[in-house]
This record gives sequence, C-alpha cells and structure tokens, in this order.
Amino acid sequence: MSINFNQAKSAIATEIMERLHLLAQHTEQDGMMTRTYLTPAHRGAAGQIAAWMRDAGMSVRRDAVGNVIGRYEGTNEKAPVLMTGSHFDTVRNGGIYDGLLGILLPISCIASWHQAGKRFPFPIEVVAFSEEEGVRFKAPMLGSRAIAGTFEQRVLKHTDDQGLTMLDAMKAADLDPSQIPAAAAARGSIAAFVEIHIEQGPVLLNEELPLGVVTAIAGATRYMLEFKGVAGHAGTVPMTMRHDAAMAAAEFALYVEQRCSRIPNLVGTIGQWNVPNGATNVIPGHVVLSLDVRAGDDAERLAATTDITAELERICVQRDVRSTMKKTYETSSAVCADWLQQGWHAALERIGCEVRSLPSGAGHDAMAIAAIAPIAMLFVRCGNGGISHNPLETMEMQDAALAADVFMDFVEHFDALSTSSKTE
Ligand code: GLV
Ligand code: MN
Ligand code: MN
Repeated sequence: MSINFNQAKSAIATEIMERLHLLAQHTEQDGMMTRTYLTPAHRGAAGQIAAWMRDAGMSVRRDAVGNVIGRYEGTNEKAPVLMTGSHFDTVRNGGIYDGLLGILLPISCIASWHQAGKRFPFPIEVVAFSEEEGVRFKAPMLGSRAIAGTFEQRVLKHTDDQGLTMLDAMKAADLDPSQIPAAAAARGSIAAFVEIHIEQGPVLLNEELPLGVVTAIAGATRYMLEFKGVAGHAGTVPMTMRHDAAMAAAEFALYVEQRCSRIPNLVGTIGQWNVPNGATNVIPGHVVLSLDVRAGDDAERLAATTDITAELERICVQRDVRSTMKKTYETSSAVCADWLQQGWHAALERIGCEVRSLPSGAGHDAMAIAAIAPIAMLFVRCGNGGISHNPLETMEMQDAALAADVFMDFVEHFDALSTSSKTE
C-alpha cells in the first residue's frame, strides 16, 4: 500500500533508530545482542532509558524488580493512567528491536509533546519492563507480573547458570525483594495498557503492510525436563542393552513436533538441549531439555501438554529411562480489548493506513498486565522474512515513523475517564 510518509514524524523515527543502536551497546557478549536480567549491561541500559525519560519531561522511578517507570503528568489528577511500554532485556544473541521499540517510541513521542507544552487530561506512564524473556532465571515477565501483582515469590529461588539465586542477584543490584508486592498497580489505576512491538513474524511483511492491530496473545506453558539413563562405554555396550538418555529425549522431541504439527497455531519448541558431561565416547546418561508449548486456544494447549506428558511416560517406560518434567511457567492467552482495538483502527484510518488485525504467537508484557487492565497492541512490520530472536531482526525507519504517528493520534483521541464504563 502507498503511505504518505510526509505525515510521519521522521525526526522522532530518526531518534528512535539512533537510540535502538545506542542501547545495543549495553550487551553482555561482544558482537551479540545479549542483555539478561540485572547483569551490568542490563543495569547500564536501565540508566540510559531513565535519562532519556527525564529528558522527555517525565518523572522517573525504579520499582523493586528493576522496572524503570517514566510518568508524564496530565492535567486531571484523578484520571487513571494510560500505560504503555515493553521490555529491555533480550534473548541471547537476539535482535535490537524486540521490546525496545515499545519503550523508545513513546519516550520520543512524549518528548515532542513536552517540547510543544502539550498535556493530556490523564497521565501517561512508559514502563521499561526489566524482564520479559525469562532467559537468566527461567522465569519470564518478572517486570510486568510485578506490576500486575502476579509475581510469584517462588521464582526468587531460581538460579542462573552460575548458581546465583534471583534473590541474591536482586540484592546485589540494590533492589529490595521484600518490596515487590508494593510494585503492584492499584486496581482501577490503569485506564489501559497499550504495547507497541515488532511483529516478530512475516504476516505484515508478506502483505506489504507496515502496521497491524493485535487481536489476542497466545498462551504458553514451559517446562524443564531431565532424562536419566545409564552412562556407559560407547564402544562396548550393545545397542539393545543401552539406557540412553539422549535417545529418549530425541524420541520425545519428535513426538512434540508431531503432536504440535496437528493443529494450526499450536507450536512446541525444545530450545535447550544439554548433555551434562557428555563426550564422544560416552553413552549419554543425563539430558536436560526445555519445552515451550503455545497456542491461541488454551484448551488446545492444555490437551497437547496432557498428551506430551503421557508420551514422556510411555517412552521412558519402554526405554527404562527415568524422567522429571517440571512446569516453570504457564500463562493463559490474553484477548485485546475490543474498544482499544477500535481505537487503533480509528487512528490507522486517520493516518491513512490499511487496518489489518492479527493474533500474536509471541508472548508480551501486555498479557501479564491483562490481569489488571484492558490491553491492546500495535505491531510494526519486521524485515528479513520477519525473523526475530535472531541478530538478523530488522525494522524500517519509515515503519517506526508511521507507528509513532499512529501512537500519537491514538493518545490524542484517548479518553481515560470514559474507560471505566467500557465493556469488552
Ligand atoms: C518472548 O519473546 C516470547 O514470546 O517468548
Ligand atoms: Mn522476545
Ligand atoms: Mn518482546
């Protein structure tokens, strides 16, 4: 489709793109985009984001899980807040746009309102959520769960690869875990939460559309599995006498693939495979796997995890291998509020963009915030076939400009006080 890019806020988009690249310098691994929870790179990024929020005319606070929250005051103190934002942690060797776009775009838009002396009859808060990916402590959405009041205290005992608990990592980062409950937003205090995010898939790219409105976010269940067989000599133990933990894991993985391929929008991923102390000449006695199952339909996801659990049992009995399967995370699918989707549609139409609605297969902070507030999301097209969680992730500046235009229009037409009477 043809868009009039003169309407776009190109100065804002230039700033967003420059800042995305500046923040990419806060990484744990040279030449890669890796920024996991509470590492020095993560803390450096938090400081930089806070500085940009202040420059944009916001007051800034940090809560007990390390969320950085910028607040742009409105003219009506009684009005509930319009909240936006996304996460500033990344996967290992990921892209520079995932999460960050949803923080930097509203900061630049607010800076432009601030320069123009414009205030709204409601406050706007931009939340840079400290943790969404679940990489370091295998517990995702720590930041948004804290604000939603659904942070689970048990995850404080999770350890990173070095054996450090999340609790100790927080203390070392000058965070006070006893204050996490106080990070929760009061019910009714958030009029709406809207998240801007790259699509992380190919739909908009293939249809040559820059932006899309999310209808719902897929639910997910995650596990860590261990297979324990018998380590043995690779040259001497006959194939029929082995209790090979890796082969049990391989049969299990193929079942996951086959079961999840049966239904559209059901996906299963084994993203981590470890053979601790493995060696070329040793039959694997121990394997550790992660499993991530997602679907837009919660019943389909739950049916799949039931079948997968039963098949694990069958495989292990047949191969005489022991296994454990520990659920580390579960979240239901989240529906985007109809009236907020309509708000995006109206903004897209006013800016001259075609309206395209699509579901999100990826998880987002919005799904945690859905526990306490109506949510909505605006997707921005990715390049490179829509690839994400990969250094090849890209986004065009023109699309960022258009997203900024649509976001500003959406906010300028937002009525925080009438939202309490809205129904889904
Ligand atoms: C987050 O990026 C997720 O969907 O896992
Ligand atoms: Mn991600
Ligand atoms: Mn993300």
